[in-house]
Amino acid sequence: MSNLKTLFQPLNFGPITLKNRIFMSAMTRNRSVPTNVPNGINAEYYRQRAEGGAGLIITEGILIAQQGSEWQNAPGIWSQDQVRGWKNVTDAVHEQGGIIFAQLWHLGRISHPDAPEQIASGQPVYAPSPIAARGGRFCFLPGQPGYATPTAIDDPRTLLAQWKQAAVNAKESGFDGVEIHGANGYLIHQFLDSMSNRRTDEWGGSVENRARFALEVVKTAVDVWGPERVGIKLNPAGGYNDIGMPIQETLDTFRYLISELDKLGIAYVTLVRYVGSFDTTGRGTKHDVIDAYSSLLKNPATRVFVNASFTGEEAARYIEDGKVDGVFFGIPWIANPDFAKRLENGKTLEGNIDFATLYGRGGLEADEKKGYVDYPVATF
Ligand code: PHB
Repeated sequence: MSNLKTLFQPLNFGPITLKNRIFMSAMTRNRSVPTNVPNGINAEYYRQRAEGGAGLIITEGILIAQQGSEWQNAPGIWSQDQVRGWKNVTDAVHEQGGIIFAQLWHLGRISHPDAPEQIASGQPVYAPSPIAARGGRFCFLPGQPGYATPTAIDDPRTLLAQWKQAAVNAKESGFDGVEIHGANGYLIHQFLDSMSNRRTDEWGGSVENRARFALEVVKTAVDVWGPERVGIKLNPAGGYNDIGMPIQETLDTFRYLISELDKLGIAYVTLVRYVGSFDTTGRGTKHDVIDAYSSLLKNPATRVFVNASFTGEEAARYIEDGKVDGVFFGIPWIANPDFAKRLENGKTLEGNIDFATLYGRGGLEADEKKGYVDYPVATF
């Protein structure tokens, strides 16, 4: 498989060297049973994938504050119990020579006021404006309700304090850095998008105002970690979670945001490309995100990564052509804990994913191993 060789070139990544260009993207797995604290099987899951050769691992979305997510048992990082749980994860990954960034996540309007975790938080569901996303299906709630109309956050700076605390806690947890989740229709994306952000204060309206929250969040993370250990994930084409603007507004918004990010000299920007099956309400704006934005990332400190539905061959071509520095894979890592090693050794990939266990089973730790840490590795 010599045409994949380029994927196995090391990459200088600020103070770190990544051993290859095959990364594991954030994936919701909902295994932090019984509540929201990372547990032993979470550590085993990430350990296996570090052993399996991932050049860089991004955790599943980690909630920066207690929220009623669409699937239960998403992990958080607001308490010391959670920090201890994540320390077990980062230790396990580091023992395998892996590198792991925490993906910091706030759902905004994509959480439900009736979800037990939301009720326990004592907080309403906050978003930039009181506009519900279309769609959604909270399967564990009676009647499987969709998204509800959120409460407009009065002063977004109160949320910035939560992002900052999460960045501090991630450092204490032993991560190598943090990824700000600015994609896929969650809080930061809700601020960026003119359909979900109708604010008339300094946080809404113009491109500069809508981009303010994203930039302020990145700056709080940079304050804690330094720019070389902070990345951001963006999905300009939108689609998922009912997000997306008309094309010209999309280009104007993301060109401005990415140009401003470039000035900060952060470790990386991941651009998620348009995937039709992800565009669940048809609001996405299909365009080539690498063509449209990567030339705006001129800072030699900043790497450009891409995500969504790549094959090994396509990833190698993108890197050979100098379009990107590394490629994230998601689904292949589910059933192939040794995905990178399989690519390197020309081994067949296991494509048989048990979708019934993808998002967890809402049960006990022992039951949650199924379809999570029991996929076999290949023999070489
Ligand atoms: C999901 O849980 O389906 C999910 C979460 C975060 C993403 C994308 C999908 O960025």
